[in-house]
Amino acid sequence: MGIIFHEQEKTFHLYNKEVSYIIRVMENGQLENLYYGKVIRDRESFMHLHEAISRPLTSVCVPEPGVLSMEYTKQEYPVYGTGDYRSPALSILQENGSRIVNFTYVSHEIYQGKKSLSPLPAVYTNNEHEVCTLEICLHDEVINTDLILSYTMFEEYPVITRNAKLVHKGEESIVLDRALSMSVEFQDMDFEMVHLSGAWARERYVKERKLEMGIQAVQGIHGTAGGAEHNPFLALKRPDTTESQGEVYGFSLVYSGNFLAQTEVSTFNMTRVLMGIHPEGFHWKLETGESFQTPEVVMVYSDRGLNKMSQVYHRLYRKNLMRGQWKEQPRPILLNNWEATYFDFTEEKILSIAKKAKEAGVELFVLDDGWFGARNDDYRGLGDWYVNLEKLPDGIAGLSRKVEEMGLKFGLWVELEMVNKDSDLYRAHPDWIVGVPERFESHGRHQHVLDFSRKEVVDYIYEMISKILRESRISYIKWDMNRYMSEPYSRGLAAKDQGKMMHRYILGVYDLYTRLTEEFPEILFESCASGGARFDPAMLFFAPQTWTSDDTDASERAKIQYGTSYVYPLVSMGSHVSAVPNHQLLRITPLSTRANMAYFGTFGYELDLNLLSEEEMAQVKEQVAFMKKYRRLIQVEGDFYRLLSPFKGNETAWIVVSPDKNQAVAAFYQRLNKINASWLRFRLEGLDKDTLYEVKCNDTVYRAYGDELMYAGIPVDRELLNKEGGDFASLLYVIEKAEP
Ligand code: DGJ
Repeated sequence: MGIIFHEQEKTFHLYNKEVSYIIRVMENGQLENLYYGKVIRDRESFMHLHEAISRPLTSVCVPEPGVLSMEYTKQEYPVYGTGDYRSPALSILQENGSRIVNFTYVSHEIYQGKKSLSPLPAVYTNNEHEVCTLEICLHDEVINTDLILSYTMFEEYPVITRNAKLVHKGEESIVLDRALSMSVEFQDMDFEMVHLSGAWARERYVKERKLEMGIQAVQGIHGTAGGAEHNPFLALKRPDTTESQGEVYGFSLVYSGNFLAQTEVSTFNMTRVLMGIHPEGFHWKLETGESFQTPEVVMVYSDRGLNKMSQVYHRLYRKNLMRGQWKEQPRPILLNNWEATYFDFTEEKILSIAKKAKEAGVELFVLDDGWFGARNDDYRGLGDWYVNLEKLPDGIAGLSRKVEEMGLKFGLWVELEMVNKDSDLYRAHPDWIVGVPERFESHGRHQHVLDFSRKEVVDYIYEMISKILRESRISYIKWDMNRYMSEPYSRGLAAKDQGKMMHRYILGVYDLYTRLTEEFPEILFESCASGGARFDPAMLFFAPQTWTSDDTDASERAKIQYGTSYVYPLVSMGSHVSAVPNHQLLRITPLSTRANMAYFGTFGYELDLNLLSEEEMAQVKEQVAFMKKYRRLIQVEGDFYRLLSPFKGNETAWIVVSPDKNQAVAAFYQRLNKINASWLRFRLEGLDKDTLYEVKCNDTVYRAYGDELMYAGIPVDRELLNKEGGDFASLLYVIEKAEP
């Protein structure tokens, strides 16, 4: 790994054993990208990769006889108004009404390690020798502003992280109308854009589309979340790239607010990728001495398909993004009461569910929505973070003590960013909600968004919730967020600062997370937003797991978990076994399939185990025991390979393999059963071809070498599938190294 600077041609070569990234300072002082892709050897000059030609209709940006034009140049950080008519990364409004800027190279610094972007979350290093960073300082003389572009290269991963920072020194103020985190350009357009899109209960479906000339983008502009609609991620893959082979470039934004992830293909067939805070509604004024830090983008290059890209994200996010005591730790098996009781519970009922959970071997009981204020339905109570003594006469302190005395840990649900109008908090502070005075304020799920761009609001919520955490025995918090922001306006900000509101809101959320995680480091936080509407890398920095979806149907989960795994590690995916008929789809799936799906995540239950038969309860005990045995492999150590896609057919399959390749757990799921059907086989990946393995599936056991399992595959036994229930049946394979 290294970053080499070639003085003569002012060229930077960032490289490790897998990837090269080459930048040069052009004759106009701006930066050009010469190459991004599979590692190439270093050379004194890469000038042959620069192409310039005189074309009709172009604006030339160097004196005659030069021909350089920004229109067809692969720029590192394009700005508005230069003769480049594609979308820029930066646009700055100045006091004279101009938006023209010219940032030119001044200096650079190369160092080991990586700086924190606090208060923004970002990937960090465990040891400064695992990365090196290049910071390039560019300057615009007229407005007297520095632009610092940072690139961090990892030794072990084909990863480059990027961010941009503006430091304003001029006398006159400037306004950032657009300040994205990065731009990357490719010489051609022979790509498919891959993104993760959907809606509530069908989050992060895999979508692929061929790039065409013009703009294609995904975005989130609801302020409080990347959203169920589009994840802050996109990848560019070659048309023949599959899960296991071919080139792909991944871009993942470490941010939870409004975002833009855009590709633009020029009429010269060049592709530009832009990513960062969405410019819509963004208007950030900088006075002398002030600066603006953009969030980080994590770029992954893989020449071995989408699985390799995902494995890199998984490892990096497990080891260099998640923090605290739960980093790289197997997760407690929990039981959550939401689908068991919804709002309708008493202490007695809760304790009876917890008792049965303990009997099954569950380790953590989680009390979901409905324990506070007048919260007997979703019309009231949000904001009143004190216990409802009618339901829980001994308070959370008493209940948590009783649950702990049973031998379980206790967890609690909160939704700190929201308020119902029917609450003491709203009655006391009606001006604390987001919205424009004298205009209609939209509601969602009967609730309003608290204005976390104001420090006094965050302080107040912190005081209320930290009191409960101090007084009770709480080991886990589920931090929910159940509506998007509308009418974004802060009653606490001056008119000139309204364009800062949505970013400041997210900084307020990060501030509260920071205070709570620092004061209560032992608590495991799980983020949630109407299911999986805020599943982003920034959340994982604070809460190392996220509720993946409100859709708990095991068969639907195949798609949701498959798509989520493109970027997010299994240990971050909240996954529960729920009751049948399923509450979202009314579908009946076998108990074995519900567990076989939930194993590939944090694993837990979301039903009243008292309602199960003795036989089912015995099965649950076996499931809990299985997960205790294999969770370290599945959640913490293993590499995950997607094998069959639920987006392409009736079957889904995947496998987790230990780093030493001695152990693996694979799963095969079908949707509908088939009669008199053809043979069915699926090929494993990640095993050692020369190792002899023992493969166990239910009561059948056989031996096979890695090469057989990977190249010939596993024949799926349809009779076993029938025994497991036919429709929506699944099979789990435990594969361990055997003595020859
Ligand atoms: C939405 C979450 O996704 C659910 O799991 C549950 O916690 C409800 N909110 C509670 O209101």
